[in-house]
Amino acid sequence: MTTKPFAEPSRDCALCPRLREFLLDLREKHPDWHNAPVPSFGDPKAKLLIIGLAPGMQGANRTGRPFTGDWAGDLLYAAINEYGFSKGTYGAEVDDGLTLHGAMITNAVRCLPPQNKPVGAEINTCRPFLLDQIESMSSLKALLCLGKISHDSTVRALGLKLKDYPFGHHKIYDLPSGLRLYTSYHCSRYNTNTKRLTEEMFNSVFKDIRKFVDA
Ligand code: URA
Repeated sequence: MTTKPFAEPSRDCALCPRLREFLLDLREKHPDWHNAPVPSFGDPKAKLLIIGLAPGMQGANRTGRPFTGDWAGDLLYAAINEYGFSKGTYGAEVDDGLTLHGAMITNAVRCLPPQNKPVGAEINTCRPFLLDQIESMSSLKALLCLGKISHDSTVRALGLKLKDYPFGHHKIYDLPSGLRLYTSYHCSRYNTNTKRLTEEMFNSVFKDIRKFVDA
């Protein structure tokens, strides 16, 4: 099977009017920021797809690369590096030269939502892009969902029932498609500051994934 190109929302995607308006406003306030749907980043032949929630204001929405430039990215890119999924040094900017190997990062919702909270309709509207991303990756073996919104949207995208795949930290589900789904609490500043998620907890998920994709 070959890896087919996948569809990204266009820079001027207007499928979610609230998010579109928010981004247009930010384009006026911060013309040097990305302020558009943030495309997936990584290796199209990856065995691992990491699925975040949505771009952060000062992070992905500013830089244009998932998790790049914010707190969550510091933890995520450190784990990615630790478990051999990247080359180069993460420098919190798109021109840091970092490349991913065996991993791809995307978001359940591609545009920055106000207060980091996409509404249900926005999550639903963006889901076809997530599904297309998953289906385009012919070498894929594992999904890592960061947080409940990412998890629930992924389960729904794959046509599965949430009651059969409840969210929690470090759950591992073998899906009917043959993919293995891993979950983690989101590596947000809030979760790490409150110790709901520690670096050890996060890394232990990556350790399992590394073993699985190498097997
Ligand atoms: N940045 C992203 O791109 N996604 C998240 O879920 C959080 C921060």
